[in-house]
Amino acid sequence: MSDQKFVLITGAGKGLGKAFATQCAGMGYNLVLLALPGENTPSLARHIQYQFGVAVFVYELDMCDEEQLSATLQEINEKYQVFFLINNAGIGGTASITQTSFQALDRIIRLNVKAGVQVTKSMIPALSRFKESYILNVASMAAFAPIAYKTVYPASKAFIASFSMGLREELKGQGVSVSILYPGPIMTNCNVSGRILAQGFVARLGLINTDAIARDAILKCLKKRARIVPGIWNRITAKLLEWLPVDTALHLISTSVKRELSYTF
Ligand SMILES: NC(=O)c1ccc[n+]([C@@H]2O[C@H](COP(=O)([O-])OP(=O)(O)OC[C@H]3O[C@@H](n4cnc5c(N)ncnc54)[C@H](OP(=O)(O)O)[C@@H]3O)[C@@H](O)[C@H]2O)c1
Repeated sequence: MSDQKFVLITGAGKGLGKAFATQCAGMGYNLVLLALPGENTPSLARHIQYQFGVAVFVYELDMCDEEQLSATLQEINEKYQVFFLINNAGIGGTASITQTSFQALDRIIRLNVKAGVQVTKSMIPALSRFKESYILNVASMAAFAPIAYKTVYPASKAFIASFSMGLREELKGQGVSVSILYPGPIMTNCNVSGRILAQGFVARLGLINTDAIARDAILKCLKKRARIVPGIWNRITAKLLEWLPVDTALHLISTSVKRELSYTF
């Protein structure tokens, strides 16, 4: 086993995960990256290695495959000392449930919920070996209220948030600090960007640069902050959502999200 310390990042081939990888490398951390095959992650890893002089290892797999994920996590545990886990991989989408296949909904639950729990549970023994270690779980502002036409996605992110809070309390005595990141809209890919633009002016108010979100979240997680909401507009919205009756929040957000319906999974 390598005696170097590593950050394990899931869904690191593109979007926010890639930003986490670049920012962590810029802070001098070695990386283990999990990504879907075909996302050019090995070439990203070589680039990061060359630019920042850190060690980077890549595992390409579909994290919805429980057995493959289990074997990969076992190998990672045998080879690398992971002191920081960033559970970033996640998918969603906007469509009427009647227009969506069960398989598409099942993949959201498998990746956002099951794989997130599987990765976290598998890495806790390794993380607990350090005097101080960290878990950063990526939820979403969507965790704050149910949303029509997204239904399963906000429910999956509410699960992640609740799971992480329970875990934070449970792992307190073991030196493992758990933080939750609640990003608002981020223009990480064409599909997400199109959906954000379709929602109009209010959705655009919460937009923040992807690298800035990643850097801020890493630093706050290392300071053991429990909940991280990037950006002042998103923090105001989060407070409003705490005060608003759930039915009102549900109606307001769903009306805005309905405008995205031209963008599907
Ligand atoms: N974009 C937003 O507006 C927004 C807002 C709030 C929260 N978030 C959350 O932020 C996280 C990253 O989102 P993003 O927009 O950057 O992502 P993205 O570009 O849409 O890609 C989704 C991420 O999940 C990974 N992934 C998808 N299916 C996978 C699978 N079966 N196995 C392994 N990895 C898989 C992808 O890995 P590869 O890189 O290998 O493709 C990618 O990193 C997600 O948890 C998302 O829910 C995003």
